[in-house]
Amino acid sequence: GVDKAPMSRVEPDQYINDRYQAIEDRLKVVRKRLNRPLTYAEKVVYGHLDDPEGQEIKRGVSYLNLRPDRVAMQDATAQMAVLQFIASGLPQTAVPSTIHCDHLIEGTTAPQADRANAFGGKADLELANKQNKEVYDFLSTAGSKYGIGFWKPGSGIIHQIVLENYAFPGGLMIGTDSHTPNAGGLGMCAIGAPKVIGVKLTGKLSAWASPKDVICKVAGILTVKGGTGAIVEYFGPGLDNISCTGMGTICNMGAEIGATTSMFPFNRRMYDYLVATAREPAAKLAEAFSEHLRADEGCEYDQVIEINMSELEPQINGPFTPDLANPLSQLADNARREGWPLEVSAGLIGSCTNSSYEDMMRAASVAKQALAAGIKAKVPFAISPGSEQIRATIERDGLIEIFEKVGGTVLANACGPCIGQWKRTEVAKGVPNTIVTSFNRNFAARNDANPATHAFVTSPEMVTAFAIAGDLSFNPERDTLVGADGKEILLQPPHGDELPPRGFDPGEETYQAPGGHAATVKVDPASQRLQLLTPFQPWDGRDLEEALVLIKAKGKCTTDHISMAGPWLKYRGHLDNISNNMLIGAVNAENGKVNSVKNQLSGEYGGVPDVARAYKAAGQPWVVIGDENYGEGSSREHAALEPRHLGARAVLVKSFARIHETNLKKQGLLPLTFANPADYDKVGPFDRISIKGLTSLTPGKPLTVVGKRPDGTTYDFPVNHTFNDNQIVGDSDMEDYGFEYSDEEL
Ligand code: F3S
Repeated sequence: GVDKAPMSRVEPDQYINDRYQAIEDRLKVVRKRLNRPLTYAEKVVYGHLDDPEGQEIKRGVSYLNLRPDRVAMQDATAQMAVLQFIASGLPQTAVPSTIHCDHLIEGTTAPQADRANAFGGKADLELANKQNKEVYDFLSTAGSKYGIGFWKPGSGIIHQIVLENYAFPGGLMIGTDSHTPNAGGLGMCAIGAPKVIGVKLTGKLSAWASPKDVICKVAGILTVKGGTGAIVEYFGPGLDNISCTGMGTICNMGAEIGATTSMFPFNRRMYDYLVATAREPAAKLAEAFSEHLRADEGCEYDQVIEINMSELEPQINGPFTPDLANPLSQLADNARREGWPLEVSAGLIGSCTNSSYEDMMRAASVAKQALAAGIKAKVPFAISPGSEQIRATIERDGLIEIFEKVGGTVLANACGPCIGQWKRTEVAKGVPNTIVTSFNRNFAARNDANPATHAFVTSPEMVTAFAIAGDLSFNPERDTLVGADGKEILLQPPHGDELPPRGFDPGEETYQAPGGHAATVKVDPASQRLQLLTPFQPWDGRDLEEALVLIKAKGKCTTDHISMAGPWLKYRGHLDNISNNMLIGAVNAENGKVNSVKNQLSGEYGGVPDVARAYKAAGQPWVVIGDENYGEGSSREHAALEPRHLGARAVLVKSFARIHETNLKKQGLLPLTFANPADYDKVGPFDRISIKGLTSLTPGKPLTVVGKRPDGTTYDFPVNHTFNDNQIVGDSDMEDYGFEYSDEEL
């Protein structure tokens, strides 16, 4: 007999026991059908099948209908998700869900001389509370009404909070953020219908090497595309030598190789973490259930790579891409050869990737040695704690004091500079410079909007060493620093406790439990940032007749061309306002210009969104014509919502990026491809487009486009669609779409 294990401390009346029972029941059915050993990822995914008897199960092929245990959303993506939920008319969420306020808080850093008390987390948080008040009010009141737990600004970063409170071995979670797989550190699985890549870990990390180096090395091997469509499952004798939070770091950054998710099987380190975060019943239950929480003997992976951690040295990945792995011993040479600025201009640690107690302690152990020798950080050094619990614990244990003494600034418990929320006052835009971070992404301009900033990702302890040395060619394993007394010191390898010896300090209570359906959701009708959604007009059941071509786009048209980011992000919760950026980056094939198309009703040229609005007001349907790989880039849902909102009916292109195509379907638009790509040239910018065959839409059967030129002559050609049976009958629960639409690019 094992005790009942609650799903989390804030959901005391729901039990993991019931979930495990369901997994066991489903696996019995699946094992009979497949009759082969299963990987751990397969056990968790198949253990959540909606219909284990009837579901087609071909690894890496089948779309799976799954029943997840949890949903987690961050504040940037939650706005539209919650607005859509409200528009659905459902009274409460069916799956336990939470909202996390972490992306909208800006972190401020300054040159050494100006670093006074005015900086830091408190001040940044106060400002964010002012600037984002209406968004926070909306999310908190809607969360309360619809049964969604709300983590207030200052509570911390979504993935850290999930690991501390909600993740459990064997669970299935869907998140609206690309680093949701972080929860794989506690044996949890997020998302889809993937293949399984096995990573065999042997040996033991030593000296300056850390779990971050394992994933930086994997990224170097697999590249940013290598994990696409796959779950990366770790196995091997080395597993037990990595902390649970270290496994979280590895799973987190699996997103950088395109993996659907990454997972570790249940082990003692997870057990200890669950106990340390006040979830002992869950730890005991997982232990009793552990045969289902690891791979079967003899299971097969689609691909296997092996890493001997004993031979692993620190990896510094970058600049501009997370798969450019530079082993520490080669970094200086690589930098000189490539001309990367050697002078380090800032060091940033923390983020959802690396802000465990162990990370902070290892970083502080480096800082402490510098302090003892009278040395301070040469450059701005910022710390973003992943949660209020981490912040309070490292404050109590004296680590914050060490960071501040060495010249560091502790920012708010939020994403801050990782998501570009960085008020960087010490380096001007356009100036080439090098920064080192313990984050996961380092694309150009991500952190400080400066495309000339060379960002490198590595472990927090390496970042700390670089911030102290101020030099990218510094190798702490070999090079010495000069102390205040003129003596040379060699930094000793960092050390850190896996878990705080005195236990965690929870800090301030930052969680709001749902209130109930009687609560009122706060949305000011005059708001410029939030707008409740009204249902789109349903299809009239007829073929499309004589739609106008709003724009015939030429060349690359990514989701950024369709719905630009940057300043527009603040309108994510206001569909009508953000629609003013619709297709303003696309090149009009007719005149080679961006955001200039002819309004065919008035004969005058105007901006794309304005002309679309004019058509909508006139009740005139319109379509978009596009080139190759239309909608590539990200899963940005607004790129599909906006055309639907402004009256589009179909998007007809040479080829689609898959996720965007799915998003268009989900919003009720017709994504179509030319059966013969050369037909793209047949369509003139002022033609009228009819689409025949919609009333008998059948999977795999082409439709016919009839084009009418301004002179009245016509032409026709076949177009393909990829609607399957479920999508055509309008399966409203969306499960057949997979979960790709919720994986935002942030
Ligand atoms: Fe936030 Fe950066 Fe992680 S944006 S969720 S800290 S990747």
